[in-house]
Amino acid sequence: MPVPTTRFDVALLPVAAEPLEDTVVVVVDVLRATTTIISALANGATEVIPAPSVDAARELHRKLGNGSIMGGERRGKIVEGFHQGNSPIEYTPEVIAGKQLILATTNGTVAMEECRAASEVVVGAMVNVDAVAEHVCHHPKVCVMCSGTDRIITSEDVCFAGLLMERVIEKRIAAGLESPFLTDAASIALAHWQHVDRQVQAGKPLADVFRTARGGVNLVRIGHDDDIVFASRLDTFSTVPKLNLDTWTIG
Ligand code: MLT
Repeated sequence: MPVPTTRFDVALLPVAAEPLEDTVVVVVDVLRATTTIISALANGATEVIPAPSVDAARELHRKLGNGSIMGGERRGKIVEGFHQGNSPIEYTPEVIAGKQLILATTNGTVAMEECRAASEVVVGAMVNVDAVAEHVCHHPKVCVMCSGTDRIITSEDVCFAGLLMERVIEKRIAAGLESPFLTDAASIALAHWQHVDRQVQAGKPLADVFRTARGGVNLVRIGHDDDIVFASRLDTFSTVPKLNLDTWTIG
């Protein structure tokens, strides 16, 4: 049997198992960093600058001035002195249009640091999964970098990886191409998504699944249930933000 020319891997935690040099990496933090980035850009942010820490965000804001705002969270809550938190629904056009967003989050923007060696890094979440599938489906090596929650695997990011693979496989078959080779981690992610999708098909809202996942439990506890609902909607956006590896900006 010929070996498929496309290879799909998933880092279930933000640590790449293989060198990323020739790989398109899809970085994901469904709850909530990558959902927020996609939403802020769709609502007119000029760019998003992922900051590795709160102090780094403050330093950048001092340099960039009033055309930028600081957003982010610690333990899910807005950081003291920041303009905004990490809720995708708070980045309305009134708040973000025409501004740079400097974003510091606990897991998502830190996971991006793990992607520096990749050939290309794009930002994915449930809200743009089909657009991401379209973007990566012809690339020979793809890796989904799951941010996890506090270095623990979390279901919603693995669901995204599995759904992305399902969409890629559908698109490739429709185009007369073979299915990609799936690493063990990629097969595990696909099986997890198929398990969740059976529940969704039987009537359980995807948001309910996310509410009981590690990141979701904390968001419910601190009153951000609306964000879970927003983040669980598929294909709200058709944009695929890209992380520029030279300037470290997402646009
Ligand atoms: C993160 O990047 O750590 C998350 O997005 C946390 C959050 O829910 O705000």
